Amino acid sequence: MNIKEQFLKFFEEKGHTIIPSAPVIPENDPSCLFNTAGMQPLVPNLLGQKHPSGTRLADVQKCFRTVDLEEVGDTTHHTFFEMLGNWSLGDYFKEESISYSFEFLTKVLAIPIEKIAVTVFKGEGKIPKDEISANIWKKLGIKEERIAYLGVEDNFWIAGETGPCGPDTEIFYFRSDEKVPEVFDPKDDRWVEIWNNVFMEFYKDEKGNITELSAKNVDTGMGVERITSVLENVNDNYQSSIWKDIINKIEELSKKNYEDDKYKKSMRILADHIRAIVILAGDDANIKPSNTDQGYILRRLIRRMVRYSRNLELDIRSNFEEELVNIIIQKYKKYYKELEKNKEAILEVLRIEKEKFARTLEKGLKEFDKLVDKEEKVVNKDIAFKLYDTYGFPIEMTIEEASMYNMEVDKEGFQMKFKEHQEKSRRGAKEKFKGGLASNGQIETKYHTATHLLNAALKEVIGKDVHQKGSNITSERMRFDFSCDHKLTEEEKKKVESLVNKWIEEGLDVNIEAMKKEEAIASGAECMFISKYPDEVTVYHIGDVSHELCGGPHVQNTKEIGVFKITKEEASSAGVRRIKAILEDK
Ligand code: ALA
Repeated sequence: MNIKEQFLKFFEEKGHTIIPSAPVIPENDPSCLFNTAGMQPLVPNLLGQKHPSGTRLADVQKCFRTVDLEEVGDTTHHTFFEMLGNWSLGDYFKEESISYSFEFLTKVLAIPIEKIAVTVFKGEGKIPKDEISANIWKKLGIKEERIAYLGVEDNFWIAGETGPCGPDTEIFYFRSDEKVPEVFDPKDDRWVEIWNNVFMEFYKDEKGNITELSAKNVDTGMGVERITSVLENVNDNYQSSIWKDIINKIEELSKKNYEDDKYKKSMRILADHIRAIVILAGDDANIKPSNTDQGYILRRLIRRMVRYSRNLELDIRSNFEEELVNIIIQKYKKYYKELEKNKEAILEVLRIEKEKFARTLEKGLKEFDKLVDKEEKVVNKDIAFKLYDTYGFPIEMTIEEASMYNMEVDKEGFQMKFKEHQEKSRRGAKEKFKGGLASNGQIETKYHTATHLLNAALKEVIGKDVHQKGSNITSERMRFDFSCDHKLTEEEKKKVESLVNKWIEEGLDVNIEAMKKEEAIASGAECMFISKYPDEVTVYHIGDVSHELCGGPHVQNTKEIGVFKITKEEASSAGVRRIKAILEDK
């Protein structure tokens, strides 16, 4: 049994329901590009919304951290990683949570207690020292010298700036064959953090105010890559069983040796990036390489992969990546079933993007040779922009490449040129569409109002218990998730569609009203996660048919929306259905 299976089995036996991983893109939070922790898809539930699978949950979640994408190549950084987590939604709290972690580590994984140390919140501001957790650890046999008390920086956890949060206790493992020191020093890097237990009892809002949540929750997270290398006693993650077959295949394809320092970094980058690309391009979110958001990350990953494959003398015009894609799909399909289904899409994305870049990479690199010959110290703005615009070098790649020759890049100059260029193409696009086609922003606004109508229509056709679970809007379509225990019949779908179109036809006015949160709730306005909203809220009324807490923007009259058409209705997760719909001009 591997660690994922052991973890899920253990928590299942402790009464947890195993839930599938959510997509890598957060459903309810447009401010975030990716899920960076296992708890992110559960934010509504941590804020009080009932989860269809109960109050004890566990899973393996697909996570992405891309702030340090250019760091990948060392022994520990990964773009994509998996996080094991168990949650209590207003169910158990510190006592069980800590005891479960302790039992799993010492009994199931058989880690000697001697190699374990923990950190606990020391108390800061209005939040007191977490004596309770410390006492539980002591009762379990962790000595006082192995408990370090730290402040907000280390022992208070929140994903980003706002949201559910709370003090945490982190578990460390002594990764060394040397004698374990009596006193735990969290700064001693032989101690590596392996698991975090967060006691989420607070909510932090935009102003930094911290309020208590109605329920006390537990959120834990353990990175699969790290715990695996710890258990297998390797210091380089890429030498653990997770990566072995991928690295072996890269060695075979390139006829180079991982042990050769000349190639090690390139092999790690190729291994990490191809795995991340498979997960990203294989996600049901249907991400394609582009110059913005998630699509830009996908583009950077593919281009950086191509760049480093060249170092390995792999023929970047061949389809060497296919065998790697196959290995990765086989490895991960058990947990992420969508990968196999989306295999062709993954291969196509890779093929097209790779070919595009393969055509210009050499020419771009020649620009660097010229600069080196001239002993330049700076890649000026014109060259940086040419590398971007003509040779397809993401600016991050130019910076990385330049640093290899100790050259700086005129980043500000580049940004200026980039903006000028954007402005020009925007103006060009405007000219082109001067016949009156709406801009993307306007189209998305229409979809947004249509979402409210769809929500109201579902309530009328299916029942009052239908609630929004998430939504996602692009300029091409809308996606709407809602609680519902059955597949919609053809008749129900027709009814919902006709009702939305009827309301559009009726030309209902959309009005905005500012209210106190309590008042809005008392008046029966629809809303997704109540504690997430500030005290003063805005409610959008669409005629008499819909009243929802929302930040807008919306059209002024439903007539502007066009014709609403459901294109798909499918399962999203247990008890949650998903509708995809488009708007067409009348
Ligand atoms: N959400 C917590 C973390 O990512 C468990 O560390």
